[in-house]
Amino acid sequence: MHPAATQSSQATIETFQQYVIANYNRYPISLVHGEGSYVWDAEGKRYLDLFPGWGCDILGHCPPQVVKAVQEQVAHLIHIPNTWYTEAQGEFAKLLGERGFGKSFFCNSGAEAIEGAIKLARLAKTGEGKFKIITFGNSFHGRTYAAVTATAQPKYHEGLGPMVPGFSYATHNDLASVKRLIDKETAAILIEPIQGEGGINIPTDEFIHGLRALCDEHGLLLVFDEVQTCMGRTGTWFGYQQWGVQPDILTMAKGVCAGVACGVVMARPEIAQYLKPGKHASTFGGNPLAMAAGVATIRTIEDDHLLENVKAMSARFAGHVARLAAELPVIRETRIRGMMIGIDLHVPGTTCVQKCMERGVLINVTHDTVIRLLPALNITAEQVDEGMAVIGEVLRDLPGA
Ligand SMILES: Cc1ncc(COP(=O)(O)O)c(C=O)c1O
Repeated sequence: MHPAATQSSQATIETFQQYVIANYNRYPISLVHGEGSYVWDAEGKRYLDLFPGWGCDILGHCPPQVVKAVQEQVAHLIHIPNTWYTEAQGEFAKLLGERGFGKSFFCNSGAEAIEGAIKLARLAKTGEGKFKIITFGNSFHGRTYAAVTATAQPKYHEGLGPMVPGFSYATHNDLASVKRLIDKETAAILIEPIQGEGGINIPTDEFIHGLRALCDEHGLLLVFDEVQTCMGRTGTWFGYQQWGVQPDILTMAKGVCAGVACGVVMARPEIAQYLKPGKHASTFGGNPLAMAAGVATIRTIEDDHLLENVKAMSARFAGHVARLAAELPVIRETRIRGMMIGIDLHVPGTTCVQKCMERGVLINVTHDTVIRLLPALNITAEQVDEGMAVIGEVLRDLPGA
């Protein structure tokens, strides 16, 4: 038993079976403690976590600077409503704006940030009679009604209709398909600069620059969903900086406060002004604990030179992945940008998660066939080698490898 555990994994599973709604498929272990890229289960087994917190634990588990900042903040103020000013919210917004652009609105999750971005885009364009939003096949924007409507795949809509009106879906990496959907009522284009849940799909330079040009030509807002790509994940503070294509509105969540729940809508000041008092709000948004964690996250990334580490470790992952791809015909394609790693297989890959877990490595499989890793920005070279050795073993065991 791990010292942080009070009961076995099995006992926790039994409590869940009785009291927790079963809307997630869960692996049969209870995790009790984490440090950096390692996490332990109740029985004391250690795992190398190459998918910490589904991308939220961007500095690994319990980064000391963030733990300290939250501990200090919690003793002063836990929650303060947005009817008052707090130092931490102003400071975090300033740090984000200096590394990105414009002004920020704070909420608590990715879906909530998307809702805010959609409302802001419509508010900014309502005077021109524009409200339609174009999104993309294989996208993922969250589970609330507008966010799940923006998410193009029909499987996410089944049984939920009617969906929110005003959304249409273009094909990723296909500018002509976007052009066909633009009309006088189109307000915005919403896109993840790199599709995450859709399988680490990296757009071409022409496509992403072409979207900006289309927005400029037709007076549309370009909204980047950076819930997964923000905070150095791609090797730059934000995904858009990979291309130098400036969005008008940008959403963040997941890693933005290193695992403390937070969502952000960032907008150019001319657009941000449309979010006036009474138009949008979030009770917990911008709470002192999340804001203190966010400030500590930015400081840690800078003090520990983690953007440089992302570049070095990304190249190291890429070397391993390229060697595996040369060896194993079961690998169809590999897609890597910073600490976003996708290994697309010719066969379903879901069994790889359990097999890696048995060998002490946590990974994810998305879109049925894509092994997805979102490692912590501070992962070490030894951990990259350790994890890729296990993934290699598991892939060699696949049928048709
Ligand atoms: C790009 C993107 N947008 C939005 C979301 C929704 O975020 P949340 O689950 O915090 O609501 C996700 C979650 O995976 C995401 O990857």
